[in-house]
Amino acid sequence: MSRSAHPAGPRHADVLPEGHYSAPATDLNELDAKVWSRTVTRDADGALTVGGMEVARLAEEFGTPAYFLDESDFRARCRAWADAFGPDADVFYAGKAFLSRAVVRWLTEEGLNLDVCSGGELATALDAGMPAERIAFHGNNKTVAEIERAVEAGVGRIVLDSFQEIVRVAHTAQRLGIRQRVQIRVTVGVEAHTHEFIATAHEDQKFGIALAGGQAAEAVRRALTLDGLELIGIHSHIGSQIFDMAGFEVSARRVVQLLAEVRDEHGVELPEIDLGGGLGIAYTSDDDPREPHEIAKSLGDIVTRECEAAGLRTPRISVEPGRAIVGPTAFTLYEVGTIKPLEGLRTYVSVDGGMSDNIRTALYDAEYSVALVSRTSDAEPMLVRVVGKHCESGDIVVKDAFLPSDLAPGDLIAVPATGAYCRSMASNYNHALRPPVVAVRDGQARVIVRRETEEDLLRLDVG
Ligand code: LLP
Repeated sequence: MSRSAHPAGPRHADVLPEGHYSAPATDLNELDAKVWSRTVTRDADGALTVGGMEVARLAEEFGTPAYFLDESDFRARCRAWADAFGPDADVFYAGKAFLSRAVVRWLTEEGLNLDVCSGGELATALDAGMPAERIAFHGNNKTVAEIERAVEAGVGRIVLDSFQEIVRVAHTAQRLGIRQRVQIRVTVGVEAHTHEFIATAHEDQKFGIALAGGQAAEAVRRALTLDGLELIGIHSHIGSQIFDMAGFEVSARRVVQLLAEVRDEHGVELPEIDLGGGLGIAYTSDDDPREPHEIAKSLGDIVTRECEAAGLRTPRISVEPGRAIVGPTAFTLYEVGTIKPLEGLRTYVSVDGGMSDNIRTALYDAEYSVALVSRTSDAEPMLVRVVGKHCESGDIVVKDAFLPSDLAPGDLIAVPATGAYCRSMASNYNHALRPPVVAVRDGQARVIVRRETEEDLLRLDVG
């Protein structure tokens, strides 16, 4: 698409690098269903509504910045994943994407399991009533205290990530007189096509035990000899925000190869494999994510095929989507504060949040889209960078986007697809108060994580 795709063209178009920034082909008022949660629409006045509630009303009642989470969309996505994988597989929602008591209750009601990776996530899950046997406990450096708590609580599985941990979990379980169900996380040596910081299956990184050099086979050997452990399977997670299924296929193939080696060496067919999470979502109109049923079919086919070839019974498969469930279900609502047109460059639009509520742009160069949501506008598009209010020039929320050129202070703009890894990675940088998460459903909105207050900040400051 070229810049001339839009008749009016962006402001300052003549000095932008040729071909780099293309004016939107579509009307800026149109909402691309791919990046917005399912109940989002515009009402007759042009204001965005979610769950039947208008954003201006939501902003008035809950303030900005705030995350608005579409509860019926979240539940529908849980069901879509569970239905796609069916009764012979298990879907674990990855709590690191976003976890709260309400989310745990929704997951419990919708029949999903939960992956936690810290004492804090475990505490939230147990507090909100997730049955312990539906919890998987992850992490590359679980503390002994965390391991004890997980084993005592009766978690369904602990995913072992190192040789030290094999021994630590075995000792804890033995001391407590329990046989703990465990999986071993292996690194399969796949280069996932995603940002370096969220790729996790190439060999040179901190997670898992390498298949290469027989390390994983040795881990299995040790786990099988320890009384406190019941080794139920092998786990692999190759990275995050991945669209190409090829990496999962290689991973599945290598995990099945290990199952065959284990059968040959020990005469044991491990009954489960977990292929992790990592499925990508649409942050902008350029992204084309797969639907859960396509993913389930693709993974199921490859595992079945490989097992048949190796003469193995097909193991029970589990997956751990986080982003793919919660990511598309929320948007962040901001109020526009200042607008600075930089002649020959772009217009900087500053909002009342920033890198403290969405670090992903600064950390991973993540791309987002943005829309004016308190009204529609027929003004020509202008190229903008949406930035926050932090004392840092890397404080960028949306790097390159188009908004109407009549944008004014006080307008509400929203960044879609912020349900995953935004509130969960939010910080208090510059003593920012972390925004609330408001669940919206059927014309009702309720706070599920409240806005931080200055008292919250000062309560921790005991000096
Ligand atoms: N399972 C394991 C073992 C994981 O480590 C992760 C993510 C998941 C499942 C869920 O992955 P998902 O389906 O959500 O992609 N902060 C980064 C993502 C880090 C993911 C860490 N592990 C981001 O904002 O992109």
